[in-house]
Amino acid sequence: MDVNKNNHYLSEFSLARYLKLMAKKFPQFYETFWFDRPKTLSIINKMTKIPTDFEGKEKGGRGDSYMEAQRDPLVRIVGINKLLSLAVSSQDLVKLSHTYKILDVLGGDGTIARAYSLLMKERANHLLILTGDIAEDMIINALKYGLPAIRQPAQYLFLKDNSFDAVIIAYGTHHIPESQRLRVFKEAQRVLKPKGKIIIHDFEKNSPIELWFHEVVDKYSTTGHKYSHFSKAKLRIYLKNSGFKNIKIFQMYDPFVISDSNKQNSYNRLMDYVLNMYGLEKLKVNRSLLEVRERISHLIRKYIHYDSFPPDFIKENTYWRKTLSFYQQNGRFVAEMPRIALVAIGQK
Ligand SMILES: C[S@@+](CC[C@H](N)C(=O)[O-])C[C@H]1O[C@@H](n2cnc3c(N)ncnc32)[C@H](O)[C@@H]1O
Repeated sequence: MDVNKNNHYLSEFSLARYLKLMAKKFPQFYETFWFDRPKTLSIINKMTKIPTDFEGKEKGGRGDSYMEAQRDPLVRIVGINKLLSLAVSSQDLVKLSHTYKILDVLGGDGTIARAYSLLMKERANHLLILTGDIAEDMIINALKYGLPAIRQPAQYLFLKDNSFDAVIIAYGTHHIPESQRLRVFKEAQRVLKPKGKIIIHDFEKNSPIELWFHEVVDKYSTTGHKYSHFSKAKLRIYLKNSGFKNIKIFQMYDPFVISDSNKQNSYNRLMDYVLNMYGLEKLKVNRSLLEVRERISHLIRKYIHYDSFPPDFIKENTYWRKTLSFYQQNGRFVAEMPRIALVAIGQK
């Protein structure tokens, strides 16, 4: 790999410096890099000039509050755990081979990788997940957490063919413009090893969460939220047309769960999480924090309710909440906002 590139890549890092760091700290992922791929430098140039919604406030994005929410990656552990078990095909996470590699394409500042480390505690003796993202601030933060991370667009990965066992495209797939989605899934297919798995996660068209994005996040976030979500039929076509086999599409319980020793704190922390997660800055205008929390609680109750069990809900899901819930478990106070996500898996 030619590392004599002085191009700007990440703040504080030229491409050459970044590559040197990765080669030293994360050789298992460095060997998958393909920065000599044709067009890479022009794509890096373009990527570093166009800020996205998830950069920090200074660049006009909502990344700061988003990263604040993700400081606790366990809030979404129910869904993340499921995605990880799909990515390792239900093999034991602890006993996985040291060469097993997962790419998290829309990885932000490494929420899934950090949740994995917390899940495994000291039992995880190798880093399994490469966090990718287009946003500079996300990747800088992921590196600060000590994670292997790469700044790249999902549409053109700076990674070699046949190099990953699983690719996760989750928690933001709707941010990819419809006209570019097929290209993104084809890129995932290219970097997967034969028999490797793709896991796609988003929310279904006409679902409570779609309405939440269109009527709450679009109205109250500084960036707006005009993105289209997925239908099962369209997801299947995308996966088929990108060369995947054994395609399965189903719904998955993916709530926000906060557990606290104090009842009031569990409520406050969940409302603050939702405020930051979705960057609902405009709700703060002329409202005290107490009023903002009340407003969020009202909006969740208005938009998020699941009246019946989805017919294709994954079988092992025995528990779920229909709407915003507060309850006690093992002597702790739990606050939970239910979400039902749409998941598709396929094999190369
Ligand atoms: C909702 S965030 C999810 C981050 C992380 N997976 C999590 O769950 O916390 C979506 C992420 O996708 C990234 N993203 C959006 N479009 C992208 C693209 N075309 N290529 C790579 N990353 C992209 C954003 O920068 C953002 O960090």
